Amino acid sequence: MSDVVDQGRRRLLTAATALTGAVGAVFAAAPFLASWKPNARAKALGAPIEIDISKLEPGAMLKVEWRGKPVWIVRRTPEMLHQLARATPFLLDPGSEASVQPAFAKNDARALKPEFLVVLGVCTHLGCSPLPKFEAPDVTVSADWPGGFYCPCHGSKFDLSGRVFKGVPAPSNLTVPPYAFLSEGRILVGSDSTQSA
Ligand code: FES
Repeated sequence: MSDVVDQGRRRLLTAATALTGAVGAVFAAAPFLASWKPNARAKALGAPIEIDISKLEPGAMLKVEWRGKPVWIVRRTPEMLHQLARATPFLLDPGSEASVQPAFAKNDARALKPEFLVVLGVCTHLGCSPLPKFEAPDVTVSADWPGGFYCPCHGSKFDLSGRVFKGVPAPSNLTVPPYAFLSEGRILVGSDSTQSA
């Protein structure tokens, strides 16, 4: 009698264990599958990102993140572009010879299209995030400030192309990441080829 009961109970327990295992497998698989979605994985690996810049006003800046770093896109006005020449005599690396940028950005505007500046918002001294200081002059930076970026950590200054001024701790210009225009109002940051979009 007890044998019959025991065997029946054993079958019941076996069935219950199998069911629990199956349910557990489903719940365990869900987060695993979610974490391996191509988008999430690609983002984690630093895949290029598409950014809509169609609503970016002249003189304004858009901040996004790529590979865990801030990327700034500034739509420069004709006046801001004019200021670049004013800053040139005071720059450490005006030709971007010792700075990091794609070949297409090795020019005064450091850009594919002069109107749009795309730079990493990371100071090349010790990695603080500089502040946009686009107004010229700005006595909170200096009396003859031509507009640009100011790093409050140790006082490094960059012009409106992210080029570093002489006499500050930062050794080089802000880095320009690879990027490409997908259309008038969309850019791809992280690749300079539209083929990878
Ligand atoms: S981190 Fe920017 S000046 Fe030191």
